[in-house]
Amino acid sequence: MNPIVERINAALNQAEADLSAASTPAMVEEVRVALLGRKGLFTSLTKDMGAAAPEERRVIGQAFNTGRNRVQELLAAAEERINSAEEKAHALDVTLPGRKWHAGHKHPVTMMIDDCVAAFRRMGFVVADGPELETVHHCFDALNTPADHPSRDVGDTFYFEDGRLLRTQTSTVQIRTMEAHEPPVRIVAPGRCFRRDTPDATHSMNFHQLEGLYIDKNVSMADLKSVLQNFAWELFGKDVSIRLRPHFFPFTEPSVEYDFTCIMCGGKGCNVCKHSGYIEIAGAGMVDPNVLRNVGYDPEIWSGFAFGFGLERLTMLRHRIGDIRNLYENDVRFLAQFN
Ligand code: PHE
Repeated sequence: MNPIVERINAALNQAEADLSAASTPAMVEEVRVALLGRKGLFTSLTKDMGAAAPEERRVIGQAFNTGRNRVQELLAAAEERINSAEEKAHALDVTLPGRKWHAGHKHPVTMMIDDCVAAFRRMGFVVADGPELETVHHCFDALNTPADHPSRDVGDTFYFEDGRLLRTQTSTVQIRTMEAHEPPVRIVAPGRCFRRDTPDATHSMNFHQLEGLYIDKNVSMADLKSVLQNFAWELFGKDVSIRLRPHFFPFTEPSVEYDFTCIMCGGKGCNVCKHSGYIEIAGAGMVDPNVLRNVGYDPEIWSGFAFGFGLERLTMLRHRIGDIRNLYENDVRFLAQFN
């Protein structure tokens, strides 16, 4: 074969390989310059062709023309391929469905805290706070709790070596608030509590309570009852009524437990209320004069009531949740139901 034709064929093979590997316009341009540029192969071949034997010129001329056309085709195809890939990479397809924005939401216990706080704010209460790591003074002593009371037991309470403890109740905030402020006082204190319970469907070592405290002149049990009744209405609607039963707490006298009429059956009796028609909600009572004295309030002038209830329990009632552990396992499939 004529050496010029051979060079043309070799150059075509090389161009084909280079162009199929090319991924940028600059790489295509490089091939174009090497073959068709002013100093490129085909330009230099025109000179060599003049020196060729006349009988070979036809063959060479034909190879030259088809070769150059082929190069142009290859260049155009490579350019097209690269441009369309670039276009695709930048294309905005307005027919695609939008990307869903997965916003989270509050935990059902947090929602319950918010609703309770909102209900009590409407009755004039303000929110107070206290630490989870507490002193024996705030958790038991100042709350008039006798030295042999079972709640102090190491089997019921998490103690630290320095004598402090994880609060077992939010009643600690009663003491902290009264120690820091002169009466009157009207606070609610939602927060985390800890007890050495074995976890089961209704017990968790970690749970939340909401404490209420109202101290003023001439506060009576009727005020306590009306606040609790109003709270029941705010939370579960006008059909709910409450009942108070005598009970004992070291820091209130008299003490009561209070129940809502069962929100499932309306008081007729069902398996949620164990056919009693009532659901136990909380402890409450008139603040014991000893507690007032412990914080420096004069019980001859000031009186008041306190109450405290478990927020998980209310959350479980509201959403018909059967096991408290569901609230702490952080399974989004469970939690997402309460949006
Ligand atoms: N602290 C009590 C408990 O944890 C509830 C309570 C609060 C009772 C305030 C009376 C007054 O059971």
